[in-house]
Amino acid sequence: MTGAGRVSLVGAGPGDPDLLTLRGARRLGEADLVLYDALASERMRPLAPRARWFYVGKRACRNSIDQDVLNRLMIKHASRGRHVVRLKCGDPFVFGRGGEEVLALSDAGVPVEVVPGLSTATAAPALAGIPVTHRGVAHDFTVVSGHLPPGHPDLLTDWDAVARLHGTLLLMMAVENAPAIADALLAGGRKPETPVAVVCDGSMPGERTVLSTLGSLAGDLERDEVQPPAIIVVGDVVAVARPEHYNDRRG
Ligand SMILES: C[S@@+](CC[C@H](N)C(=O)[O-])C[C@H]1O[C@@H](n2cnc3c(N)ncnc32)[C@H](O)[C@@H]1O
Repeated sequence: MTGAGRVSLVGAGPGDPDLLTLRGARRLGEADLVLYDALASERMRPLAPRARWFYVGKRACRNSIDQDVLNRLMIKHASRGRHVVRLKCGDPFVFGRGGEEVLALSDAGVPVEVVPGLSTATAAPALAGIPVTHRGVAHDFTVVSGHLPPGHPDLLTDWDAVARLHGTLLLMMAVENAPAIADALLAGGRKPETPVAVVCDGSMPGERTVLSTLGSLAGDLERDEVQPPAIIVVGDVVAVARPEHYNDRRG
């Protein structure tokens, strides 16, 4: 153990250890215990050689360990003087419940720091060669969750308002509901020929990019058997990317 207990919420980035920040790597090296989820890559284990690793099993925001239980686990180990690293995919504060964890730890008097990570919202498109903004094409981008919390059968977002935005849309946790989201965007006025790229497993060995359009997205996802995790990029910036950047292209 290294002195007083504390918790570091470390953003792991998209998964490749090369894309972790230097501070994140340093915190892993100092850790006594690493609590990680499915998308925070196990490939980072060598960076925390003396820590115990404990899987807390979150995938696409579906918690297999209750958030309260997880908070209590962090509090318990930090209270025993351990340095706990809570390793979260991407950036801890982007759809990562990092804010809730910081509040719970602060309320319990546990010292906590946040180490930002590369959010997959922009990192996955960048890895696929897609600029989320591009002069003359898109001057803003919007990150939207496509996930429906349990008990919410309807899409929570005002998709009419989202459809009216001119910039790039970056949809996270959206593979499952992509057909409904595409319909909602089309109903809101986006054109069926709007370019779409689905960047799957960004930075991971199986990384690939599926090109589509809003009108054909549902069929293309099914045809290419697209599985999460993926970032769905909607907008003309998709057409800016040079084909040689894609690992996989539509036939
Ligand atoms: C619970 S959210 C966490 C987001 C994370 N905090 C971030 O900043 O990237 C999980 C979603 O992140 C995206 N994601 C995570 N890892 C990814 C990867 N390697 N490639 C593409 N998308 C990824 C997917 O949209 C996935 O459904």
